[in-house]
This record gives sequence, structure tokens and C-alpha cells, in this order.
Amino acid sequence: MTGPEAGAATLPTHAISTGDGRSFECGSTDTLLRAALRAGVAATYECNSGGCGTCKFTLTSGEMHQLDPDAAGLTPRDKRKGKMLACQSVPLTDCEVALQAGDAWFADQSTPGVRSGRVTRVRHLTHDLREMTLTAPGAAEFLPGQFAMLTVPGAPIHRGSPDGAPRGLERAYSMSNLPNDDGQWQFQIKRVPGGAVSGIVVDDLDIGDEVLIDGPYGHAHLKDSGRDIVVVAGGSGLAPMVSVVRGLAERADAVDRRIDFYYGGRTPVDMCAIEFVDEVRDRVARVELVEAVSMDDADDGWTGPRGFIHALIDHDTVDGLADRDIYIAGPPMMTDAVVRKLVLELGVSTDNIHYDRFF
Ligand SMILES: Cc1cc2nc3c(=O)[nH]c(=O)nc-3n(C[C@H](O)[C@H](O)[C@H](O)COP(=O)(O)OP(=O)(O)OC[C@H]3O[C@@H](n4cnc5c(N)ncnc54)[C@H](O)[C@@H]3O)c2cc1C
Ligand code: FES
Repeated sequence: MTGPEAGAATLPTHAISTGDGRSFECGSTDTLLRAALRAGVAATYECNSGGCGTCKFTLTSGEMHQLDPDAAGLTPRDKRKGKMLACQSVPLTDCEVALQAGDAWFADQSTPGVRSGRVTRVRHLTHDLREMTLTAPGAAEFLPGQFAMLTVPGAPIHRGSPDGAPRGLERAYSMSNLPNDDGQWQFQIKRVPGGAVSGIVVDDLDIGDEVLIDGPYGHAHLKDSGRDIVVVAGGSGLAPMVSVVRGLAERADAVDRRIDFYYGGRTPVDMCAIEFVDEVRDRVARVELVEAVSMDDADDGWTGPRGFIHALIDHDTVDGLADRDIYIAGPPMMTDAVVRKLVLELGVSTDNIHYDRFF
């Protein structure tokens, strides 16, 4: 494999004004959301992938192209009201938009940028989960728990390129390592059956292949609160939780901190969190791992807990749960079930819960 498809050579840039006095430029290869973030406008978002609906906005004047007109983040009602998703919108003219955005840029975050990386290391963690390290020029600046948008060679051409230039589909993947000066970006990517991009990463990418990295993005990063933490990962959600745990273990107060690591998979062959827990064991006060399989197969040899991971989290199983920071990553159904249980049944404050749903 070689590199991702290149975009067109010279493409126009359009002026965007937000109607509240803010303005920025958006190129034809960028989305409204990303251009806003690159310009320091703290636009509201979560997944950057069209799934969550957090980045909805109204177009007041001008024309926008929709990368994925069927994106799940917009309901039929939203569409009737003329709402659009900033993460799926590319301006075709100068535009005025009513965009939800905070007053100040997220103080602790790096501005997202695009860089080209090469695959420098790969290893299989399980039958369908592969760790991939990319090396790119400059420092890898991100916060533990954040993600990047990757374009990999061989990805299907994006059906919605507004300028007709061939451009590969991008997907969001979370970094599993820590920020570093060596330009190393590490990911753990799970093959989704029939998936357009994940299968290429797990089965086809080779050392030396070129991958475009656009990031960092995401708000569910390790906070500086001084609290003990709980991390909950399901399936493909392992990477950001590994990064959060590694980040905590690096801190000066790590020796006083406790980590409870919950990992849910379908079958015993999906289990692989132990090496990441062992890695930090001698640097934190205490780390516990609870792994559960959701498939009910009496012949699979599993002697640990069975069922959905949210069922195992309780005040009895995590001491001081209400005073911990809780990080969650994985499929939306799992994430929503954990959040519901924490808030509605266990009385945990939403301020202590930080999550990314993997649409
Ligand atoms: C913020 C964020 C961070 C993410 N981080 C990671 C990560 O670190 N590692 C990782 O492996 N993935 C991660 N993902 C998921 C990833 O972006 C892709 O959605 C996933 O790899 C599937 O892409 P695909 O092109 O192979 O499948 P698609 O062609 O997009 O989808 C094929 C089918 O699979 C379903 N599907 C999509 N994603 C999933 C999923 N995660 N689990 C089950 N079914 C799914 C779709 O609904 C569709 O029906 C993250 C997603 C988000 C939004
Ligand atoms: S951030 Fe746009 S739909 Fe999730």
C-alpha cells in the first residue's frame, strides 16, 4: 500500500461569520467544525463523525455541501427545520451560520492540525484488535483520551467530496499512547465486520504506509482534578482508556491514586487489558482490573464475570465511586448504559463523568 488519495491542488477558501461577531476561513477540504476549531472558535462537538448530533447548526446565508446527507446525528425533524451538522458541512460560498460555541477556546487543548505519518510499528492485541504506531514530523501534542481523524491508504473514496477530488473516507481513532516529542501516534483499532476502514487497518496496513492524521480532538481527556479514577471500556474503546491510565501513572501524585479498570468484550478471546494494567501497577497506589464477557457460552472456558459491563459497577465494587472521575469509551449503547446507571441509580454527578461514544 502507499499513501492516502491526495486532494485537489488549489481549492477555494470561504469566509464564515457566526452572526455574533466571530469569523474565520474554511477551505474546501475542511469541514465547518474543524475550520472553527482550527481558528480557535470553541464550537460544540463530540464525535466529529456525524453520529452524535452535538454540532448541529443553522445556515443563515450561503451554501453548504453535506459530506454525508444521511448522517445519523440529524433526525428527520432536524432536517425539516433546516438543521445541519458542522462536522459534515463544507462551505461552497461565503456563509453566515448560527453555531453553538463557547466564549473561549478550550484552555488546555492543542489546536488541531493535519500531518502525514508513516506506519512504523504494528502488532495484534487480539484476533481483531491491532495496535498501530504512526510516526509524523514534529511533536505529537494531545491529551490522554483524545482522538484523531485518520485517512488510510485504500479507504473508499468519500462519496461526498464537494470538489470532486478523490478523497478517502476518514474515521475517528483514539490515541493509546501519551503526548511525546518523537511524533509517535499510537492507536488500537478493532475490525468492525463489513466496516469500510477498520478492516484495512487491521488486515492490510504495512510498515511504511502513509496515513493522514488530523487532530487532536475530543473533550473526554484526563482531567487534572486530583481524584482517583474509574475507566470503563467496551470493545474498540480500549485505546483512550489505556492513554488515560498511562497519563495518570505519569503524574507526580500517582503513588496516591487508585484506578479501577473495567473492560467488556464479547468473548474470552477479546480480553487483552491486563498488559496495560500491569504496565502501571508499580506506579499507582492500587489498580484493579475487572473484565467481563457478554456472550453466554458455557463451553468457552471463561471463569470471570459474564454480562454487560455496566452491571458490575456499583458502590460496593468501587470504593469512593461518587468522588472519582469516571472515563468511558466504546459503542454508544454501552456508554449510554454506563452513564444512565451512574447518574440515575448510583447518584454520580455528571460533572465527574467523561465519555466518548464511538459512532
Ligand atoms: C470519538 C471516536 C473515537 C473512536 N476511537 C476508536 C478507537 O480508538 N478504536 C476503534 O477501533 N474505533 C474507534 N472509533 C470507531 C471508528 O471511528 C469507526 O467507527 C470504526 O472503526 C468503524 O469504521 P468502519 O469504516 O470500519 O465501519 P463503517 O463502514 O463505518 O461501519 C460499518 C457498520 O458497522 C457499524 N459500526 C461502526 N462503528 C462501530 C463500532 N465501533 N462497533 C460496532 N459497530 C460499529 C456501523 O453502524 C455500520 O453498520 C471511534 C469513534 C469515535 C466517534
Ligand atoms: S460532532 Fe458532529 S455529529 Fe457528532
